[in-house]
Amino acid sequence: MEGACFLRSAARPEEFPAGNAVEVAFLGRSNVGKSSVINALVGQPRLAYTSSTPGRTRSINFYRVGEKVVFVDLPGYGYARVSKAEADRWKHLIEAYLLHRRELALCVLLLDARRGWMEKDLELKRWLDFHKRRHVVAVTKIDKFKNQTELRRGLETIRQVSPEVELTPFSALTGQGVRELWQTIWKSVTKA
Ligand code: GTP
Ligand code: MG
Repeated sequence: MEGACFLRSAARPEEFPAGNAVEVAFLGRSNVGKSSVINALVGQPRLAYTSSTPGRTRSINFYRVGEKVVFVDLPGYGYARVSKAEADRWKHLIEAYLLHRRELALCVLLLDARRGWMEKDLELKRWLDFHKRRHVVAVTKIDKFKNQTELRRGLETIRQVSPEVELTPFSALTGQGVRELWQTIWKSVTKA
């Protein structure tokens, strides 16, 4: 994918871009690798800002990745060292987006392969189910497993919790899963 570009950063719902594109949102815990997944998918390592310090993406960032598609990088949740006020502000911002955004066609929920489902992830998943937001799961950082057996076990544990959700193993480091996740995204985008 050539020529993806930064569109806009929104700290408040009023700042969401007007548009007719189909949006794909990336959600997950702080530091899980949302921005890295976006960069890997578009093949531009420095498009979305990544950092080893959790909690870096503080607003909602919109990236145009094609004529019709916009990727949306959401602030991560679950980072303990954020003030309550700041955490509440993020929650409000994310919920405003997820609840009302008409352009939103698909949520990609990211899980860290070694951690699997954590309480906040399950909370979000239940919320998406309740509000009938279509979502898939990408299990990222799978390069951190020592071998295939560990990888298989990790994925199996995640599947047991959510057998009905489409699941894509992913690594921003090796590029594994890039093609598969694009296929999943493409299906939703063309249906929207
Ligand atoms: P916030 O914006 O803070 O919520 O984080 P994020 O979810 O956007 O994570 P980000 O993409 O910034 O990645 C966090 C850290 O994990 C960085 O140090 C990345 O280099 C690393 N990382 C992301 N994806 C992978 C992966 O697939 N494999 C490995 N080994 N490291 C990864
Ligand atoms: Mg980020």
